[in-house]
Amino acid sequence: MTGANRGIGLEIARGLAARGLAVVVASRALAAAEQAAAELAAPDRVLEPCQLDVTSAAERAALADRLRTRHGGLDVLVHNAGVSFHGFDARVAEDTLATNFFGALELTLLLLPLVRPAGRIVMVSSGLAERSGWAPELAARFSDPALDLPTLRALLERFVEDVRLRRHREAGWPTSAYGVSKAGMNALAAVLARELAADDRHILVNAACPGWVRTRMGGAGAPRSAEEGARTPLWLALLPEGGPSGGFFRDEAPADW
Ligand SMILES: NC(=O)c1ccc[n+]([C@@H]2O[C@H](COP(=O)([O-])OP(=O)(O)OC[C@H]3O[C@@H](n4cnc5c(N)ncnc54)[C@H](OP(=O)(O)O)[C@@H]3O)[C@@H](O)[C@H]2O)c1
Repeated sequence: MTGANRGIGLEIARGLAARGLAVVVASRALAAAEQAAAELAAPDRVLEPCQLDVTSAAERAALADRLRTRHGGLDVLVHNAGVSFHGFDARVAEDTLATNFFGALELTLLLLPLVRPAGRIVMVSSGLAERSGWAPELAARFSDPALDLPTLRALLERFVEDVRLRRHREAGWPTSAYGVSKAGMNALAAVLARELAADDRHILVNAACPGWVRTRMGGAGAPRSAEEGARTPLWLALLPEGGPSGGFFRDEAPADW
């Protein structure tokens, strides 16, 4: 569970712990992870604080080691860590993609071998993944049923490069690094679901829009509480056998993007 120290992530962690799962409460700052684990503590709950900046290869590897040696694997992986910056330039594009897309991608690839049968992978995405401001051919590539991981990775790397070279508009990208990162997450869920379809562990991978939520990112004027925002990600984390895979959901129902 990444970005579990506050906002929607804290509520997803609370929901998982309340349903009896042992939760690794991962946060960029260990002190924040410890504080969150203490807040969620109850006699029958297992909560393990852990430091994880999703952009750090060393910290991702340390988490994989911990899950392998202490827990023998994992059942649920929730990618909640996310950033949204003001403005739009090469730095914003690079930093946004590093956390929201590449952090989730690299962590998934590292942890996938450790995911136990009936495992669930959830991407906390956003309605801003919708691609209406994109060139149609580029938008179509993100939902191409033949899209594979190397091509998806190259597409998102090209976005960062196109912004750096100031040619993103002619290349058909929108001026929202956040939107591109979340479209990447949705495509990642779809590609992984296809690649795992023949895997006998029956792992389900989906993306969720939490809605507009009152958190540090969403602001005080948002209509939903963090607990409400956590509902669809939690539902996807606990899907029964035979549930959907590769989809994007809002309010526990399929959503367009
Ligand atoms: N709020 C909304 O209206 C809304 C709408 C749609 C989607 N979302 C998505 O929901 C998710 C949670 O957002 P939120 O609203 O709860 O925002 P938030 O309160 O700002 O929380 C963001 C979380 O992500 C963590 N994080 C940021 N960069 C990280 C990194 N490199 N490595 C690890 N953790 C990192 C933060 O940790 P620190 O405390 O260390 O900064 C924090 O725990 C995000 O993916 C966001 O894009 C939110």
